Amino acid sequence: MEIIELINSASRQLKDKKIYSHKLDSEILLSKVLKKTREELIVNLEQKIAPQEISYFNSLIHRRSLKEPIAYILKEKEFWSRNFLVNNNTLIPRPETELMVEKIVKIFKSKDIFILDIGTGTGCILLSILSELKDSKGIGIDISSKAIHIANANSKEHNLTNRSKFYKRSLNEIYSNKFDLIVSNPPYIMKKDIKNLQEDIKNFEPKIALDGGNDGLDVIKKVIYKSRSILKIKGMLALEIGNEQFKKVSKILRSNKFKTKHLVKDYRENVRCILSTLEN
Ligand SMILES: C[S@@+](CC[C@H](N)C(=O)[O-])C[C@H]1O[C@@H](n2cnc3c(N)ncnc32)[C@H](O)[C@@H]1O
Repeated sequence: MEIIELINSASRQLKDKKIYSHKLDSEILLSKVLKKTREELIVNLEQKIAPQEISYFNSLIHRRSLKEPIAYILKEKEFWSRNFLVNNNTLIPRPETELMVEKIVKIFKSKDIFILDIGTGTGCILLSILSELKDSKGIGIDISSKAIHIANANSKEHNLTNRSKFYKRSLNEIYSNKFDLIVSNPPYIMKKDIKNLQEDIKNFEPKIALDGGNDGLDVIKKVIYKSRSILKIKGMLALEIGNEQFKKVSKILRSNKFKTKHLVKDYRENVRCILSTLEN
């Protein structure tokens, strides 16, 4: 069978399952099987494929047809122009989160700071910031030991083990240390809305990474309360929030002595990140 035939038949299969990126996904998965770039694949459409490669490819297409996210099938996701290992114990890093990283890097460029990343998942936020702020150090914590395992692997992959440490810990268990910057992309979806998420997300991504409790604000509130006691005065809290949480979260920040300094909007003009400083 030739590449073109395989792509067309897989693409039809995925289209039948209402996967809108059916062609692209088929090309990406075949690139993985053949260990070629998509571009190499597309210029060799008549190349014949060996039976064992066809059967491996079909198994990947089957997984995708069940709506498993491409990132879990590939075991990696690009974030801040680097590849991060992911698996079904970690949230798949999102482009909105890159906007928060971009802002932080701009604010702290060439500074030497100590950072805490609460709910670190793959470690993508902390490791991306440290890759830019070469004199800084940081700690990432997560309640999931399996996520911490992945964050440690990513830290090694990116040669950042000397400046980053990851611990399985709930945010309630952080006591000492005064941080210059606390970053967090906590779970913030309302419990009742989880059932309405796309199948790719609700059936595959870890609930503990999504579920923000009844009002979506459970972990956000904990992060804010905790940050009051472990952040340096004038230290910064960078918090990613859900689409319609800006007003409520701003109010909680204000009543906890945080002053909003910067807002980051997503591509649809929703405020998705609040950067605030702890006042005296
Ligand atoms: C939305 S995910 C963010 C992952 C990663 N920071 C990112 O942006 O891709 C939230 C993470 O918070 C972790 N988490 C949930 N509750 C927590 C808690 N009480 N203390 C520490 N981590 C928690 C989850 O395990 C999950 O990895």
